[in-house]
Amino acid sequence: MMKQAELFANKNVMITGGLGMIGSTIAHKLVPLGARVTLVDAFIEPYGANDYNIEGIRDNVQISVTDIRDKDAIRHLVKKQDIIFNLAGQVSHNDSLKNPFLDADINYIGHLNVLECVRRNAPEAVVLFAGSRLQFGRIEKNPVDESHPLQPRTPYALNKTAAENMYLFYHQVHRLRCVVFRIANPYGPRSQMKHSKYSMVNWFIRQAMDNQAIKVFGDGLQVRDYIYVDDLAEAFIRAAVSEACMGNVFNVGSGVGTRFRDMAETIVRAAKGGTVEFVPWPHDYINVETGDYVTDIARICEAVSWRPATAFDVGIERTVAYYRKNKSYYW
Ligand SMILES: NC(=O)c1ccc[n+]([C@@H]2O[C@H](COP(=O)([O-])OP(=O)(O)OC[C@H]3O[C@@H](n4cnc5c(N)ncnc54)[C@H](O)[C@@H]3O)[C@@H](O)[C@H]2O)c1
Repeated sequence: MMKQAELFANKNVMITGGLGMIGSTIAHKLVPLGARVTLVDAFIEPYGANDYNIEGIRDNVQISVTDIRDKDAIRHLVKKQDIIFNLAGQVSHNDSLKNPFLDADINYIGHLNVLECVRRNAPEAVVLFAGSRLQFGRIEKNPVDESHPLQPRTPYALNKTAAENMYLFYHQVHRLRCVVFRIANPYGPRSQMKHSKYSMVNWFIRQAMDNQAIKVFGDGLQVRDYIYVDDLAEAFIRAAVSEACMGNVFNVGSGVGTRFRDMAETIVRAAKGGTVEFVPWPHDYINVETGDYVTDIARICEAVSWRPATAFDVGIERTVAYYRKNKSYYW
């Protein structure tokens, strides 16, 4: 098997949403491998773009402040790219209920724009898409594999599903080299910490570090699959250079179910602050609650010889340590 450094040396790699949590984590891994990395980000509030996310690699990446909906700019940017991690997104499923047009505009039309620009200007490029476990809607059977029915319950999940289908269409009809991930709940360093619109684990970490009460809805027995962002980035990178992945969909998570209350208590222990409080479900949440979710990761593990390497308590310790050190850049 070829080493990663041989596969990525001098490769032109573009990451949209590249100043956000997942995009910047991928960039930190690709720069040492010798890739020529371009980060494309529109720095739209309230999402996670943060200049500090590229601390340590700033001089080794190109940055383009560009919106993926900008046809002319994206047409120009995709030329000569070998790999495109198309991660730009409206990330809040709650906000998508309030502003479905913005969600469709970025998560569907914006992604269609990138695909169309790639088809016309870089048809050999690999394009990777960050879908969501929310596309499954209410869960019928755990662990959830790729054949589980898609029953999206929010505009965010609907637009991610429409975009996923568009990626698969571009693969089938135009032979574009597309890879689709449906991601569980990612957490870790370099996430935004200013609000609770998305990335609940990171928000709870902030609350514990600020010595506040973490509010858990219901009895806290609901199960989720939390994946450390470094592990997720590694899966993305392997998929980008795997022929077996082209045109395929993968569920990506840790493969481990963790109860909400255990997640919150692990955070309080690691942060040495905060408390866990149980409160009734707000009505706007219960509408989109999916039931327990655990990822069946067999397909991605086999395709790219990958395993999540970070146990939940270890990932939380590392995340807390990162924000203790770099708090002023995120609070
Ligand atoms: N964080 C999660 O819970 C989660 C779960 C599943 C999938 N995803 C998907 O992963 C991707 C990356 O999310 P993240 O967790 O790194 O969040 P993030 O907020 O840290 O990163 C998203 C980035 O996209 C940028 N962006 C938003 N709209 C843009 C546009 N129109 N043009 C260019 N840039 C734009 C933002 O400025 C931000 O830097 C998103 O597509 C998201 O939907 C995230």
